[in-house]
Amino acid sequence: MIAIQSKLPHTGTTIFTVMSKLAEEHQAINLSQGFPDYECDEKLIGFVSEAMRKGFNQYAPMSGLAELRSVIAEKVNLLYGANYHPESEVTVTAGGTQAIFTALSACIHPGDEVIIFEPAYDSYAPAVKLLGGLVKSYELAPPNYDIDWEMVKKLFTVKTKMIILNSPQNPTGCILSEKDIKALIKLTKNTDVLILSDEVYEHIIFDGHKHQSVALYPELYERSFIVASFGKLLHTTGWKLGYCLAPENLMKEFRKVHQYNVFSVNTPMQIGIARYLKDPETYQHLSSFFQQKRDLFRTLMAETKFKLLPCHGSYFQCVSYEHINQEKDTDMAVKLIKEYGVASIPVSAFYMRNNDHHVLRFCFAKKQETLEKAVERLTKL
Ligand SMILES: Cc1ncc(COP(=O)(O)O)c(C=O)c1O
Repeated sequence: MIAIQSKLPHTGTTIFTVMSKLAEEHQAINLSQGFPDYECDEKLIGFVSEAMRKGFNQYAPMSGLAELRSVIAEKVNLLYGANYHPESEVTVTAGGTQAIFTALSACIHPGDEVIIFEPAYDSYAPAVKLLGGLVKSYELAPPNYDIDWEMVKKLFTVKTKMIILNSPQNPTGCILSEKDIKALIKLTKNTDVLILSDEVYEHIIFDGHKHQSVALYPELYERSFIVASFGKLLHTTGWKLGYCLAPENLMKEFRKVHQYNVFSVNTPMQIGIARYLKDPETYQHLSSFFQQKRDLFRTLMAETKFKLLPCHGSYFQCVSYEHINQEKDTDMAVKLIKEYGVASIPVSAFYMRNNDHHVLRFCFAKKQETLEKAVERLTKL
């Protein structure tokens, strides 16, 4: 056996794999991982298979199919009034995670510091570390996970290279407000600090709130990468397609990395998605579609002993159980699978350091009957 020196010595199997495997073993209802248990639109599948049958099965251009980049630029303009040039400022990627990794790879040098807000999507910190960067984490606390921008200011040093945002947020379902963005603008003004804005849940936002995309703020344009996911937008997480927006000089560096680790992305799906998204109706209904699911899940969960935390966006609902018992959340999640037949994710998995917050995350991007069956089991607790 040849031993290699691990670049991520403290990283094991992700909690998502662990929980999903355990859920399978115990035939539990899986509300752990973030993906729908229902089908995407038949029309979209028709467009993709038609492209395959018509022979569009070879490499796409490195930056993505021109039709798709144009549709993306139009969508961003329609929603946020921003003008990203499809030729030089939009790149189609193999999902949001690849876009995040590529943006980080293009910018982070050893010793650079990257600020993240925890609980955080699990790819950020390992990606920064792989590149020799240092993660400066700001640990937010339940129930509201509010950001105190004075605290963020304290994390800034001469080595701060980037700040990663995620709104609507996984796992908390929190969203950034206009006030947050104004504070961010003030903090980064006259600095070279970059922003990586993970907006994969941009279309899943509730109660009439407006998604505070970085694209709404011209002041942030020059320093920002914006990442989006067609998996979340089209209920097709298994297709692994997304995109990145950035000003031309940043995108040039992004594409240098992209061309050597991915080169180009699935052609027939790009054709199908470009055709499908020409009609804004395909994404304008998404928030109300998921709001119905959130409302149903919250109404059902109100009958359990769990305490519901606020959920303003994303397809995740967090619950607190500190008033029920003081078990660690990983133990509580395992107990829910083994004894009650429902899988969730312990929110401590989204922090680098241990904490005792006693919060679990459930994914409600599921059929009504799945949610009803799961909550029926949880009421037995
Ligand atoms: C916050 C966040 N960013 C990025 C991603 C990854 O998106 P994709 O599946 O397109 O790689 C996810 C997926 O769960 C996510 O929750």
